[in-house]
Amino acid sequence: TTGHVALDIGFVNTASCTSAITYIDGDAGVLRYRGYPIDQLAGRASFIEVSYLLIYGELPTAAQLADFDSRIRRHTLLHEDLKQFFKGFPRDAHPMPVLSSAVSALSTFYQDSLDPFDPEQVEISTLRLLAKLPTIAAYAYKKSVGQPFLYPDNSLGLVENFLRMTFGFPAEPYEVDPELAAALDMLLVLHADHEQNCSTSTVRLVGSSHANLFASVSAGINALFGPLHGGANQSVLEMLESIQREGGDIDRFVERVKKKEPGVKLMGFGHRVYKNYDPRAAIVKQTADRVLDKLGGNNELLDLARQLEEVALSDDYFVERKLYPNVDFYTGLIYRAMGFPTRMFTVLFALGRLPGWIAQWREMIADPATKIGRPRQVYTGKTERPYIDIADR
Ligand code: SDX
Repeated sequence: TTGHVALDIGFVNTASCTSAITYIDGDAGVLRYRGYPIDQLAGRASFIEVSYLLIYGELPTAAQLADFDSRIRRHTLLHEDLKQFFKGFPRDAHPMPVLSSAVSALSTFYQDSLDPFDPEQVEISTLRLLAKLPTIAAYAYKKSVGQPFLYPDNSLGLVENFLRMTFGFPAEPYEVDPELAAALDMLLVLHADHEQNCSTSTVRLVGSSHANLFASVSAGINALFGPLHGGANQSVLEMLESIQREGGDIDRFVERVKKKEPGVKLMGFGHRVYKNYDPRAAIVKQTADRVLDKLGGNNELLDLARQLEEVALSDDYFVERKLYPNVDFYTGLIYRAMGFPTRMFTVLFALGRLPGWIAQWREMIADPATKIGRPRQVYTGKTERPYIDIADR
């Protein structure tokens, strides 16, 4: 029942916890949520359904799903005072720090439901967070483009409501494109959980001090912002656009990567666990064509991405290092086609990962064996030495 410890090339590679939520086999490229393979869930189970599965452990019946959905819809509004927050941020603020600030602020508005050990308070916090993060994300976008905020419309589902609040205007009706909603819903499913990745481990570590759900998830959002983690989907688009700007010479770019030029990585490639093709990337790649054709996306960049993948997967440098496309390699192209600016890509990752963070936080809090996270270290500093007065230095 305890995590295994394995010494590997001088690094301690430990299992940080036990968990029954998500299973990954990095060598085989397998990903399962509560035992269900990701390729059986993507495109068949909705994001709300997968959120239920991750959090409660079983696929919901139709009645359970309808009840869960309606309980979430009742909490989509933000407190009017919380909306003032957005006025204080600079217009060119990146939406990710706006997101983490607003989520952290939720714990100031709901002080009566922060106790991690009161099941009712955990439940209402879960519903509030699932319902309000899309509203916060839409408002972060509206703030960045100087447009008015739209109140949520609870006759719509979570994804449709988010799209309407993001792309709708008060001055005219906005019809959500069902193709667009279905594509985004599936992408959120693909991001919903991923075992003990950097941001999820952050949520668990912060929560292990008995910090409330909002505070723990706010920390996870900050971890996801990093370009090596959730920020990679933004970096992939920036990488493809710079290759295109410089004439589309893929071989030259690959050579720069192999020479390890500072700051030059093949973004969207490689993974701490997958040493095979990320199953999520395969699903995104399969749908990219269809979605881009439907939404009128930049197929030129998609072709460039495909060529880049082809060159990399036939180059020993990448093959020997087991570097394959990860979930971030193709998603940005679809998000761009949906009309999202590059800086919103990681926000979309956070929207998708939220049910996983919540499920993992609840699992950790419910585990009596959980102690406060307190990693140790391998000390590599000076051995003991006497103090020297400044006059003698
Ligand atoms: C996510 O953990 C999760 O589950 C994360 C995630 C999730 O759902 O939560 O899957 C989401 O974060 C996906 C990863 C997104 N990040 C990127 O795409 C950024 C680019 N990728 C990397 O920076 C890198 O691959 C990491 C950070 C993802 C993994 O880094 P590692 O574990 O250090 O890679 P490694 O040790 O296996 O690398 C082995 C070799 C090294 O070269 P050598 O020292 O052996 O010569 O491969 C090289 C690395 O320098 N390498 C790369 C590379 N990734 C690794 N070289 C060029 N381009 C890359 N992208």
